[in-house]
Amino acid sequence: MNTQILVTYATRYGSTQEVAEAVAATLRESGLGVDIQPMRKVRTLAGYRAVVLGAPIYIGSLHKDAISFLSRHREALTERPVAVFALGPTHSPTDEKEWEGVHAQLDQELAKYPWLTPVALELFGGKYDPAKFNFSDRLITGLPASPLHGMPASDLRDWKAIRAWASDLAAKIKPALS
Ligand SMILES: Cc1cc2nc3c(=O)[nH]c(=O)nc-3n(C[C@H](O)[C@H](O)[C@H](O)COP(=O)(O)O)c2cc1C
Repeated sequence: MNTQILVTYATRYGSTQEVAEAVAATLRESGLGVDIQPMRKVRTLAGYRAVVLGAPIYIGSLHKDAISFLSRHREALTERPVAVFALGPTHSPTDEKEWEGVHAQLDQELAKYPWLTPVALELFGGKYDPAKFNFSDRLITGLPASPLHGMPASDLRDWKAIRAWASDLAAKIKPALS
């Protein structure tokens, strides 16, 4: 099967990579040819008919690899369908205030790229595991003033919703690929 789609992700602790893998697997089950790569390793989008970008939000910003990817591949991204997913909320699946706040963070981040018009855009819950934090995240979240101070480990990734989103995406982009 010809590879048609690139699923590419940014990650610090691996949770976005795992979501990208589930998205790629679902697209393949829908009959599409899919490659998966970390954003920092992608040199060219030539040969791909569509691109799925996945990135976590850190302190209100998209992961730095995503910011760099968007500037490096701007032209190619305007020439093919692009879908975007982000990971963020880690408090509770039902904390509406948190989800609204992260939606606003994501909208604000994407507003910096007015040329980017995703065919699908979704925010998923993230995974939060303080035991794995690097030095700087331990420092930031250890500050009593940090909104993340004392927050317990959590995993709000809803695999059913993730697969459903990818399956809808396959149906949406398939006609453009045939
Ligand atoms: C130091 C730190 C800051 C974070 N800041 C935000 C944030 O501003 N907004 C948000 O929605 N999620 C935030 N998160 C949650 C991450 O987006 C979430 O843990 C995500 O699943 C991490 O993805 P990764 O494992 O692929 O790096 C933060 C997490 C950490 C550790």
